[in-house]
Amino acid sequence: MNTADLKQEITSLIEGANDMASLEEVRVTALGKKGKITGMMKNLGQMDPEQRKTAGQELNILKTEIASLIESQAKMLKKQALDERLATEKLDMTLTPRPEMQGKVHPISQTMEELVTIFGEMGFSLQEGPDIEDDYHNFSALNFPVGHPAREMHDTFYLPDDPSETGEAAKKVLRTHTSSVQIRSMANAKPPVKMICMGRTYRSDYDITHTPMFHQCEGLMIDKETHMGHLKGCLMDFVRRFFEIDDLPTQFRPSFFPFTEPSAEMDIGCSRKDGGLKIGAGDSWLEVLGCGMVHPNVIKNFGLDPDEYQGFAFGMGIERLAMLKYGIPDLRTFFEGDTRWLDHYGFDAMARPNRAY
Ligand code: DAH
Repeated sequence: MNTADLKQEITSLIEGANDMASLEEVRVTALGKKGKITGMMKNLGQMDPEQRKTAGQELNILKTEIASLIESQAKMLKKQALDERLATEKLDMTLTPRPEMQGKVHPISQTMEELVTIFGEMGFSLQEGPDIEDDYHNFSALNFPVGHPAREMHDTFYLPDDPSETGEAAKKVLRTHTSSVQIRSMANAKPPVKMICMGRTYRSDYDITHTPMFHQCEGLMIDKETHMGHLKGCLMDFVRRFFEIDDLPTQFRPSFFPFTEPSAEMDIGCSRKDGGLKIGAGDSWLEVLGCGMVHPNVIKNFGLDPDEYQGFAFGMGIERLAMLKYGIPDLRTFFEGDTRWLDHYGFDAMARPNRAY
């Protein structure tokens, strides 16, 4: 067979191959070990030198031509396959997601994020501490001496003594407040310190404004110069930002906490009409948090000299903040796991308009 006929034959086979598998078959037929062109190349040996030279050149040219024909046919087939997929696999980006988006961000999570954002922008770092605390961190170190009536104010859940520890460390409680984290985060800290801590707290209490588990946010600022004016400024800025009311009135009432001296409770302005509550300038006040200047005994327990260091602290209930901001009437409903409640009070995970940033 001459090369022209062979070329004709293989070319039409290539053109007839309409998928990659049959094209591969053609390649093997032509250029494979036992292929037609390969076979003819093997025959070159039996020719006389002159003939071999011309036939060899012709065959080499044919081989290159066929290889490039196969390559362009392969390209064409791949493009065709892609075009087909593109034509059939249509995706309408304007369709709503299916299944419909489910689940909402819980108001507690939402409020915590808002707190982190606001205090974060003021330069407070975020700290953590354990839910199972020992008597020392929850009480003694915070200036609650054993037998002090202030301990009774917390309806504490006591756990059995931990046999692997001794003394105050063996006496375990579910932390009654996040103030315990003050002591932990000051342990190796170098002032100035500005920290907040958020998390679960526990007290044996249950009614419309109390649940045995709830959340608190604690704040602490320690350095050499911090005074009551800084405390007031920081908390006034915070509530105005959190409630998104620039002229929100505030007042500080004297109070008592063992770990602060002086101690205060902070109120924000509100008005009550027809059983409704509106936050903002009005004729009434709502308590939102406790605060004060850190007691010298607590500064000592931080391992610092109270003649050199001072600072302020504050603590607030996260559910209470969420209830006031988002108009949620009953605290107990936060933890009932009712999806209808969450549908109503929860936040869209994607679009979160009430996010503070
Ligand atoms: N730990 C207090 C409580 O649970 C709240 C509190 C009040 C925290 C005053 C503070 C503070 O840091 O200064 O009722």
